[in-house]
Amino acid sequence: MRQALHIHDPESGPQSAPKSGTQSSARLPGKDTAERKTTSWAVRRLTLTDFRNYSTLRLEPDPCPVVLTGANGAGKTNLLEALSYLAPGRGLRGVRLGEVTRRDAEPGTVWAVAATLDTPAGPVDLGTGLEPDEDSAENRDTGQSDNGNKRQNSGARRVVHINGQSARPGALGEWGSSVWLTPDMDRLFCESAGSRRRFLDRIVAGFDPGHATRTSSYERILRERARLLREKGGHADPAWLDALEETLAQTGIAIACARREMAALLNCACEQNHGPFPMPRVEATGDVESWLDQGPALDAEERFHAALAETRGHDAESGRTAHGPHRSDLEVHMRVGESAAEAASEVIARECSTGEQKGLLISILLAVAELIRGARGAAPLLLLDEVAAHLDEERRAALFERLGALGAQAWLTGTDPAQFAGLSGRAHFYHVADGAAAAV
Ligand SMILES: Nc1ncnc2c1ncn2[C@@H]1O[C@H](COP(=O)(O)OP(=O)(O)O)[C@@H](O)[C@H]1O
Ligand SMILES: [Mg+2]
Repeated sequence: MRQALHIHDPESGPQSAPKSGTQSSARLPGKDTAERKTTSWAVRRLTLTDFRNYSTLRLEPDPCPVVLTGANGAGKTNLLEALSYLAPGRGLRGVRLGEVTRRDAEPGTVWAVAATLDTPAGPVDLGTGLEPDEDSAENRDTGQSDNGNKRQNSGARRVVHINGQSARPGALGEWGSSVWLTPDMDRLFCESAGSRRRFLDRIVAGFDPGHATRTSSYERILRERARLLREKGGHADPAWLDALEETLAQTGIAIACARREMAALLNCACEQNHGPFPMPRVEATGDVESWLDQGPALDAEERFHAALAETRGHDAESGRTAHGPHRSDLEVHMRVGESAAEAASEVIARECSTGEQKGLLISILLAVAELIRGARGAAPLLLLDEVAAHLDEERRAALFERLGALGAQAWLTGTDPAQFAGLSGRAHFYHVADGAAAAV
């Protein structure tokens, strides 16, 4: 089975999805689109309720970059985290939903984020939060539900409303788009492959919400096969195992193909936008990827299917699955040279300096934003936590220029307003302190 990366087209989404003049396939923004009037997703009203250190907060920003400054611990990252919940997924901190409710909130209350967004299809009202749970007041401290089972407050679901109608969290992806860069991501290139895989998967899912569904169903089947092998060993029903492995092979190859196509798009976009930031070359690597290098996707799928059957004994013993895209990596290299044509040598990202690694991440993130704008007709929300602090004057100015050219509503945080002097007159500035944000 060959699965192409579907660059998301809202026209093909559910009936309630926005209708807009978006293109149905990825298009790198080049000269032909440079003059095109750019729209962007922009938050025009934001309300937080019992969200981390905010009891209530209401902002009405302009559709331009937004700068949040304030002391350490003031709540700047919390605000970006609130915005990240306007997209599908687990938010930029990836924590349990129950952790987010304000510690001193009234018993029984839960966090909520509501926003009105400008989108290419017109304004949309989005609301999300923790599902109100009758037990949650008593359970917040004890972690017990009334039937006595251990239960985390976070066990509750996320609720989503779109234009007043209840919706799946995944449906948020039809209406908005956001990408983020946080200090936690500084160690991405030195961490385990899993963090980089999730990073790439989040990027792919920003284009094709179906990718998130495929990765979670792949992981579910992987666990089911591991359980069968563990509990039944050689006595597991071979027909059932084979059916699981066939689905794993199909889904796994679809996931690997989507990651490879995304990597190719990213490399093109990075080459086109070479500025003072280092130029990355990204590549999804692993056994499945090398099979895809050697022949058609159908052959790779058969090889993967056969490898799963062959390694049952080994996998039963190790408790792990030896082959598959769950073991792949996203390799990032820094290309060395003045331009794409001259970039003859490269350095693996984990051996680059901290500043170079940050620059590589910025390059990737800006490329993702360009690609989303090209494919969906609008630049995503950019959540840039403490990014300016790490850049020298030239790079900071270049970042602000790129944000301006993208037309994105970027949300930037920092402790020192002087870092953002280059955005004076082009951004909406807020000072964050004591659970409030005051326009300055
Ligand atoms: N659930 C919560 N309830 C109340 N306060 C919280 C909660 N979670 C985090 N905080 C507080 O938020 C503050 C950190 O906010 P953060 O946005 O990370 O600060 P910064 O402005 O440095 O980015 C800390 O003081 C922390 O105690
Ligand atoms: Mg912070």
